[in-house]
Amino acid sequence: MRRWQLMTFALLLVWALAIGVEKEPTKQNKKPPPFPLSLFAQAEAKDYIGEKECAQCHKKETQTFNASPHALYVRDPKLPVDKKGCEACHGPGEIHLEDVKDLKKVMSFSKSKPKEVALACLRCHADTMRLSQWHRTVHAQADVSCSNCHQIHQDEERGTRDANKVNGLKLMGQVFVTASEPKALLKSDEVSLCGQCHQREVNEFRLNFHHPIPEGRMVCSDCHDVHPSKAASKKVRVVKDMCITCHADKAGPFAFEHDPVAGWTGDGCVECHRPHGSHNPRLLRAFSRGLCNQCHTDKGNNHYPGQSCWNVGCHVAVHGSNTDVWLRQP
Ligand code: HEC
Ligand code: HEC
Ligand code: HEC
Ligand code: HEC
Ligand code: HEC
Ligand code: HEC
Ligand code: HEC
Ligand code: HEC
Ligand code: HEC
Repeated sequence: MRRWQLMTFALLLVWALAIGVEKEPTKQNKKPPPFPLSLFAQAEAKDYIGEKECAQCHKKETQTFNASPHALYVRDPKLPVDKKGCEACHGPGEIHLEDVKDLKKVMSFSKSKPKEVALACLRCHADTMRLSQWHRTVHAQADVSCSNCHQIHQDEERGTRDANKVNGLKLMGQVFVTASEPKALLKSDEVSLCGQCHQREVNEFRLNFHHPIPEGRMVCSDCHDVHPSKAASKKVRVVKDMCITCHADKAGPFAFEHDPVAGWTGDGCVECHRPHGSHNPRLLRAFSRGLCNQCHTDKGNNHYPGQSCWNVGCHVAVHGSNTDVWLRQP
């Protein structure tokens, strides 16, 4: 190759690269958002065909959608087209009709990934939580989807539901005294729902001493934040904060705090209590002095030979005291 040929080639190369580099950022700026948001991003107002059209081909789903409380919300005529009717969730109909078999041209909730489902739902539910908050939850990380717990289209059964079946799930009511009513568009009553995947934890509530879930006075989400609220900045709800929303008298501050209760050492309340249920009264982890010996290993039988350290006359103020450094009185 002659030198001038080489030079031209090199110049051309540099020029091509330069254009490439220059073009790259603009290309990235215009990168479409991820599916299914891409459907909404590429659509114009005319691409939304309205609920009546969908009904012609999807009779069953239109019926089950009518039974859903959600129907009330998305039928408000004042809403913008992309937030109205079926298309608010499934995307613009015109694009779907280009090729009805193409699952990239319509949002199919049962055939999409959990991440895509979350994107579709959080278009409207940013008030409940942000996407970044959802991604941090154990459920999102374990690929549990919004639609594992929530049901938008409702079986007709639900209106006249018999005690044994709600959308195909068995109610805990058979074993537990009462089941809480299904709420927040959940697939079933909450305890049965959670129990589908957390049977072991639900069983803990069958022990003699338990938080009153079987009696229908509480549900799992009274303690567990299934959804991190937008207001809460903390990633995880500290156990103590959880417990003292209902047991405020244990919160202190006390003149003489007991370290594990104050949460200074260990896991707080659950150092001594089982949160769900226990064989021991007061949901205690251990019935006798062994509870305290978990940490106070130096206090052998020569300190006190009796069974429990919090007996009358001894350390009755285990949660903290305002008068006694040895926690012997409140
Ligand atoms: C002309 C008939 C027709 C109309 C109108 C129509 N669809 Fe479809 N839709 C179909 C067909 C056919 C399929 C493919 C079914 C299959 O693959 O089994 C489909 C598939 C779907 C799917 C995916 C189903 C799955 O199995 O995951 C969804 C969601 C859907 N349509 C929603 C809608 C919505 C919302 C509208 C209104 C905006 C609409 N459709 C309008 C005929 C129609
Ligand atoms: C608020 C969101 C929402 C709206 C509005 C909505 N759907 Fe759905 N749709 C879902 C979800 C979620 C599923 C998955 C099954 C379930 O949870 O019931 C689904 C399931 C479907 C399916 C089966 C394919 C799939 O995606 O799994 C079709 C078809 C369908 N809907 C059509 C419709 C039609 C027709 C309308 C309007 C009459 C409508 N949907 C309104 C959320 C919605
Ligand atoms: C077009 C906007 C829109 C989309 C998309 C949407 N929702 Fe909703 N949803 C609403 C509105 C509006 C309400 C009523 C809110 C209120 O009353 O505060 C609601 C209420 C709810 C409720 C509470 C119902 C109750 O009884 O308290 C749940 C749960 C819910 N939506 C779940 C979902 C899920 C899961 C998806 C995705 C499949 C979804 N939503 C998609 C608009 C939407
Ligand atoms: C592990 C089960 C589970 C999953 C997964 C789940 N939810 Fe929920 N959701 C619940 C429960 C339980 C409640 C009622 C208790 C509460 O309000 O915290 C609820 C309540 C709601 C509410 C109404 C309460 C409010 O904050 O206004 C909305 C909206 C909602 N969920 C949307 C979603 C969306 C969107 C997703 C997916 C990104 C999702 N949920 C995933 C269990 C779940
Ligand atoms: C579809 C299955 C499914 C459902 C329904 C479900 N979960 Fe989960 N949950 C999981 C998976 C998977 C994990 C992560 C793995 C694990 O720790 O078991 C998890 C983790 C958890 C954890 C966290 C444990 C930790 O290590 O921090 C809690 C608490 C929890 N779930 C509570 C609930 C509650 C309350 C409900 C009902 C509102 C519920 N789950 C419904 C599947 C589910
Ligand atoms: C009184 C509050 C409370 C109630 C009610 C409650 N939990 Fe928990 N749960 C906790 C605490 C606290 C922990 C953490 C225990 C620990 O760290 O030792 C926990 C832990 C868990 C875990 C994780 C267990 C593990 O091994 O990591 C799951 C799953 C769970 N709970 C599910 C449920 C389900 C399902 C329900 C309803 C049937 C429920 N919880 C009701 C307070 C509660
Ligand atoms: C949503 C409210 C709520 C939360 C949160 C809560 N509890 Fe409870 N707790 C109750 C109720 C209600 C009872 C039953 C009281 C009754 O039967 O009169 C109870 C009972 C108890 C008991 C047994 C009391 C007795 O007299 O036998 C203990 C111990 C206890 N809770 C500890 C905890 C711990 C530890 C936590 C945190 C993991 C916690 N609680 C979180 C509501 C709550
Ligand atoms: C060092 C162990 C220990 C820790 C940590 C602890 N407790 Fe207790 N708790 C006990 C013992 C022991 C009893 C039983 C006292 C009795 O029977 O007189 C008890 C009883 C209770 C009771 C029922 C009796 C009553 O006084 O109302 C509640 C409720 C309770 N604890 C809540 C909590 C909460 C909430 C926390 C965390 C802030 C906590 N406990 C931390 C040891 C502990
Ligand atoms: C999770 C560990 C843990 C458990 C369980 C525990 N303690 Fe403590 N306790 C501490 C720590 C840490 C201190 C403060 C530091 C120290 O040991 O001096 C403390 C301090 C005390 C004190 C104040 C005197 C002192 O040594 O400073 C008394 C009294 C006491 N505990 C009694 C009990 C009794 C009674 C129980 C059982 C109901 C119990 N503790 C269970 C960790 C624990």
